[in-house]
Amino acid sequence: MIAKASAPAKTILFGEHSVVYDEPAIAGAVNKRAYITIKESKSDKSIFRAPDIGFEAELLSKQKKYILTKGKPGIIRYILESLYRAHDHSPIDITLSSNVPIGSGLGSSAAVTVATLAALYRYHNIRFNKKSLAHDAHMVEQAVQGVASPLDTLVSTYGGLVYLSRNKKVEHFKVNFNAPLVVGFTTKHGNTGKMVKDVKNLKNRNPKIINPVITAMGNLTNYAKQAILKKDYNKVGELMNINHGFLDVIGVNTLELSRMVYNAREAGAIGSKTTGAGGGGSIIALCPGKVDEVANAIARDDSILKVRFTRRGVSSRV
Ligand code: PMV
Repeated sequence: MIAKASAPAKTILFGEHSVVYDEPAIAGAVNKRAYITIKESKSDKSIFRAPDIGFEAELLSKQKKYILTKGKPGIIRYILESLYRAHDHSPIDITLSSNVPIGSGLGSSAAVTVATLAALYRYHNIRFNKKSLAHDAHMVEQAVQGVASPLDTLVSTYGGLVYLSRNKKVEHFKVNFNAPLVVGFTTKHGNTGKMVKDVKNLKNRNPKIINPVITAMGNLTNYAKQAILKKDYNKVGELMNINHGFLDVIGVNTLELSRMVYNAREAGAIGSKTTGAGGGGSIIALCPGKVDEVANAIARDDSILKVRFTRRGVSSRV
């Protein structure tokens, strides 16, 4: 039996950091995916392979451990946690292939987790739906990371653009917002936990300044929701630029991020901002008709990705 599943990466369009303080956020699935294949092992061992990233390991799923054969660990913890929860520990071969850069702020861990769980459920003929899968994948992320927002796994499961309201209600946008985006990666990986803590400390030291900014970020996200519904790309771009300014105020932008953001605008992006936790990580630029110009303006080797939002969420089959 061979089970296959894939799930998309995501990018946060509006609301990073303010979402931690129960403000709304908007994130969307992009057309880069993680693909998982599971089949019975020919030996008595379970093996995980990710040839694209040069990684191979023997999995001891019962003990949540692995023996490394090749490459650097990282994503493997999500695979092991998924196996621990949804596999009977019989020997299997798992292969990951992915065009989502790992650790880039595009939600690679959520995409891999959602695809792994979906493939495992298929492999074992376990019934599941998107709601239960998004929930289970969030539990896996939480177990591995300690804390995790449900947004990444939600978007990876359902696909499309998602609005998370102040009271944590999820709304799926019905409009097709498929303007081209360029994602630019900095040389530094962002550390989400540290950045969230830094913002909290800044807020505690300066509540009268930072609290209204967090509220304004939430209001901005609600304006953005309206602009997206009207497919008003220029307005969305304008709000992305304002949001970048707010992210500057709360201290998560870096010289490298902001340089990319301003270079993208110079090259014709109608909006650009840091996306995700900041402190490194990546930026997104909205650039209808100017994708190549923007990509060239911010590119180093392998440092950009041209993407679009996609409605395609998880997909799986045996
Ligand atoms: O770095 P990312 O893409 O996982 O985004 C983090 C977003 C934060 O709002 C900073 C944290 C969170 O859990 O929502």
